[in-house]
Amino acid sequence: MGKPLDAPLGTNTLSVRDNRTGKTYSIPIVDNSISATDFKALSAPRAPSEREENETEKGLRVADKGFLNTAVLRSEITFIDGDAGVLRYRGYPIEQLALHSNHLETAYLLIYGSLPTKSQFQLWHDEIMHHSVIHADAEQFFRSFRYDAHPMAILTSALSYLGSYYSEANPSLQGQNLFTKGDKTSLATMDKQIIRLIGKATTLAAMAYRVRQGREFVTPPTGLSYAGSFLYQMDHLGQENYVPNPVLEKALDVLFLLHADHEMNASSTSVLQVGSSLVDPYSAVAAGCASLYGPLHGGANEAVIRMLISIGKPENVPAFLEAVKKREKVLSGFGHRVYKTSDPRSFIVRKTADEVFKITGKDELLETAMALHDAAMKDNYFISRKLAPNVDFWSGLIYRAMGFPNDFFPVLFAVPRVVGWLAHWRQMMLQTGGVKIWRPRQIYVGAGKRDYVPLEDRVAVEEPKKTPSVVEHSGISKRTTLASFKGQTRAKL
Ligand code: SDX
Repeated sequence: MGKPLDAPLGTNTLSVRDNRTGKTYSIPIVDNSISATDFKALSAPRAPSEREENETEKGLRVADKGFLNTAVLRSEITFIDGDAGVLRYRGYPIEQLALHSNHLETAYLLIYGSLPTKSQFQLWHDEIMHHSVIHADAEQFFRSFRYDAHPMAILTSALSYLGSYYSEANPSLQGQNLFTKGDKTSLATMDKQIIRLIGKATTLAAMAYRVRQGREFVTPPTGLSYAGSFLYQMDHLGQENYVPNPVLEKALDVLFLLHADHEMNASSTSVLQVGSSLVDPYSAVAAGCASLYGPLHGGANEAVIRMLISIGKPENVPAFLEAVKKREKVLSGFGHRVYKTSDPRSFIVRKTADEVFKITGKDELLETAMALHDAAMKDNYFISRKLAPNVDFWSGLIYRAMGFPNDFFPVLFAVPRVVGWLAHWRQMMLQTGGVKIWRPRQIYVGAGKRDYVPLEDRVAVEEPKKTPSVVEHSGISKRTTLASFKGQTRAKL
């Protein structure tokens, strides 16, 4: 710090002059990044007009609302070039993996860093399939949901519930460094939870599906693939030797592989934010599932279909796009924080859709989707904002053609993304220097220091958003609020 501004050109440093003090600073650049904490050295006396809450004398803070340009970790797992439309898992292009690999082999690659040998893969596959069974008590848990509960609400809860069976995997019970020690025992405990979560992700999802369909649960079968077992558990109704259609099984496996990881997306970040408190991995993954549920993220594939249904026929596309430009509607399935060209996965999904449609028949929404896609791709409003189709634009059409209900689509995203969440969680648990809890800073712009006001001296604040909305009562609560009760006494404030 405090080196002269005229540092030699070509050095990996940032020369910063703080014009509040005239001091100069030299900040190191490492891997094309600077450390936000280096800016804490840039302190200045607080100007009389400046709020004490700005903490100016304690050094600069770096503001980045929505993490538009903040790197929260160093990762070896997935690389995305958003301008070129590149996606690589551990260096392997997604196009090659989609063509030659399968979801469980890709899961091994994402989590352990290399493509497995035949024997390594066989053991990995067998362990995961062996751990697809869950405790019989879970049936009561699933039956406690209403038949029309959103399956993502069921899955999110189930992932957290699952962890309650494994006290040996709970750092709150076994000690906070249960997964960070990195020794043989710790790695074994960690890898067993990873196998359990990947193996049981399909089972939990299938059980959520059967709740919605009003069907008995199906014990995970033996002898089927990961995707095949999933389809079997969702669809088996007692038929003898039921085997899922191989084209649908393959399509689902490719979609799983494509959705397995995507570096620091909102749900993976949620897993790491929660995981940084050293909570058990089931709770961290449940947090990721809750994040993925949202329409801006994994819920977009469901939102795309609802959008296409609302548009109806292709001839309605121009009016819809005009409404989008007026910000009255959102073009779900388009846009991405990182990709500023088409999401490379979207091309593979589109190709997979054609293969599925050969078996299931074309979906009547396909024409509308293609018209919408083609119109948006030519429209300067979207071109100027670098909005292009993401992975969710076409995937919902496949799930719909396969007969899944709209609200099950995010579940079909969450199941494979358990792999990416666990890859990042494991990487964080084993990172050099251990795990620091994620605790971002803020810029406080609220009320300055003020004294408590006794009840009798208060002036009512009644602006909208600053008082609770009036809750409308109906049914039982409406009549009971109007009723009177013997010896009724109102609670004293
Ligand atoms: C996934 O992060 C990941 O990697 C996610 C994911 C993964 O694999 O984990 O790839 C999966 O979640 C894909 C994204 C699925 N979501 C959607 O399809 C929902 C629709 N998309 C948008 O909500 C939006 O594009 C986001 C949320 C995806 C990205 O939002 P950003 O990066 O915050 O971009 P922004 O909102 O700042 O948009 C920049 C401009 C704005 O216009 P201006 O206000 O500057 O004039 O583009 C506009 C936005 O209004 N815009 C859109 C739009 N997306 C952005 N306008 C219309 N329709 C859209 N879909």
